[in-house]
Amino acid sequence: MKNKGFSPMQPYLFVKNCKNNEVLRNSFFDLGEEIFSLNLRTWHENNCWKDDYIPYSFAKNGVIIANASANLMKFCLNDGIKHYIQIGTVMTHPDYRNRGLATMLIEKILADYKGADGFYLFANENAVNFYPKLGFYKTKEYLYRQNNVACGGLAAEKYDDLRHKERLLHILQHRKTFCKLQMQDNIGLTTFHINSMKPYIYYVSPLNAFFIAETKGSTLTLYDVFSDNRMRESDLLPYFPANVDTIEYGYAPNDISQSTLKNDGDDVLFTKGNFDEFIKEKLCFPLLTHA
Ligand SMILES: CC(C)(COP(=O)(O)OP(=O)(O)OC[C@H]1O[C@@H](n2cnc3c(N)ncnc32)[C@H](O)[C@@H]1OP(=O)(O)O)[C@@H](O)C(=O)NCCC(=O)NCCS
Repeated sequence: MKNKGFSPMQPYLFVKNCKNNEVLRNSFFDLGEEIFSLNLRTWHENNCWKDDYIPYSFAKNGVIIANASANLMKFCLNDGIKHYIQIGTVMTHPDYRNRGLATMLIEKILADYKGADGFYLFANENAVNFYPKLGFYKTKEYLYRQNNVACGGLAAEKYDDLRHKERLLHILQHRKTFCKLQMQDNIGLTTFHINSMKPYIYYVSPLNAFFIAETKGSTLTLYDVFSDNRMRESDLLPYFPANVDTIEYGYAPNDISQSTLKNDGDDVLFTKGNFDEFIKEKLCFPLLTHA
């Protein structure tokens, strides 16, 4: 590993998990805001920061100057469990770049979780050349779409905290697997996405199921389904608007085989470790599990 300009004599303090140090925690939030315009403060205030989110950071004079976070993820895949580490919030303050700090933080994560099934992350355009140096491979993801669907136009209830929150929380704890690669546990990440998707959440009382969907013209994007019953996508068709004729899925559905390669947008998947099944089954990580 090249440690350009960095030596152990330099005053960088390695900090694993700044959550309980108020000064460092706030400076971590500030760096996230500065680099990615992330509102991590609100995320924390909403109690979404659980023990499965662990920032690895370097601090200088009480200020976080570089970070890479480990998200401990558990997925159900073909009735087996995969333990993956999703690396996120990789950022180095501009004044401290190209000194090997991000490289060292990611290497610490790789070493700490070497027993995991694999590591993955979503790279933005600026960083796609950075991760291969750490042994990550650009990995294909597939988008699932179903054309010519007939939807029923029956009304689904719009989500309302007062009426639905308790029920949703209960279902989250007892939800059944319904897609090919389904995240388990990780209530912090689920709560974060639910909070940001509230206008798109619906409840179908005859199925006792919640779904998260966004409709644009005649295309409906189905992001997630929560139910304590075994569900199939077709069960929900009667409850989608009648003008919808195309469904795009934010995950890899069990029943639908029609898939296309995802375009390389801002989020390019990089993996390291055993992703053979993921590749063979033409999967994608559910959009609402991105950290
Ligand atoms: C990407 C980023 C985290 C790298 O941090 P860093 O601490 O400078 O990284 P390192 O010093 O460990 O860099 C290691 C190597 O990658 C190179 N590198 C750094 N940034 C790079 C980039 N954006 N693209 C390609 N290579 C990069 C360095 O030149 C260095 O190469 P070398 O050792 O062969 O000379 C930093 O540029 C950053 O914060 N960017 C903005 C936020 C961002 O895009 N994060 C990635 C999200 S996916």
